[in-house]
Amino acid sequence: MTTSKLAWPRLRSLGLLTRLGLVFMVLTLIGGYIISGVYLQWKYENRDERPKLTIKDIEAAYHGVSSSSPLLESLKSGHPEDLPDPEREALIAWLESDRVNQDFDNFDLGDMAPSEIIAVNCLDCHARGADQGDGIGDEVPLEYWDDIQPISTSRDIQPKDLEIVALSTHVHAPSLSMVLIMVTLLCSMTRWPGMLTGVIASAGGIGIFFDIAGQWLARLDPLWAYAIVVGGFASSVGVGLLGALVILDLMLPGGKGASVESDAS
Ligand code: HEC
Repeated sequence: MTTSKLAWPRLRSLGLLTRLGLVFMVLTLIGGYIISGVYLQWKYENRDERPKLTIKDIEAAYHGVSSSSPLLESLKSGHPEDLPDPEREALIAWLESDRVNQDFDNFDLGDMAPSEIIAVNCLDCHARGADQGDGIGDEVPLEYWDDIQPISTSRDIQPKDLEIVALSTHVHAPSLSMVLIMVTLLCSMTRWPGMLTGVIASAGGIGIFFDIAGQWLARLDPLWAYAIVVGGFASSVGVGLLGALVILDLMLPGGKGASVESDAS
């Protein structure tokens, strides 16, 4: 008996129906991960009150975000240079008021309505495809309320309640690590080189640890948001890869019990 590889059972030596069952279990597992990935995207993409899922959304959820309106900042800093003072003051007063939505194109304000001031003073440069402004019109267009609204508000976003983070850890830490443990064990029983399983399993394991730890540490320092994202990515890709390797091994012909004499049938 050579000791090193002997004791470890092989999936290949399992009976056909057991392997069939396992294929579908692992497929369901991977399917579940894909759905939760899509769900997380929907759930978080608006956390920072700006479109698209970015690291800011994760920071907003776990650390909170506060920043003032980019439009207000820009006007206060003196941009654009040739905006007459009354117009600048009117825009600043509007952005600092709590009627940003209502007053944007308020008829009663006449020429001093923010929509009018912007149309007259900004759109030479800030319209899509504008000749002036070195393409700023495509980057920061100000043509429609939908363009302006996201940069007109200041943000003060509170992070998730601690109780919710605790509840989420309570649900996810055991279940996600269990899934990784299961696919790692299964993958160790395949024909694939142990090194391959090892690399994916260690990335996945370290990933899930820092994903969950990051959700707590991000309270203290928003940089941990990166650990949540990178760790979460590594662990889900890990589950996907290990799962795919297991399914391949279960389905590929390879001689039942090629390395271990089997008594399971
Ligand atoms: C002559 C062209 C021109 C006009 C007119 C102009 N802008 Fe700009 N704007 C620019 C350019 C170029 C930039 C990018 C470089 C910079 O920040 O100066 C910019 C940047 C900005 C930004 C983005 C700042 C950031 O931090 O990303 C905002 C907001 C903005 N402009 C608002 C306005 C508003 C409001 C008006 C009208 C009241 C206006 N601009 C008029 C050329 C213009």
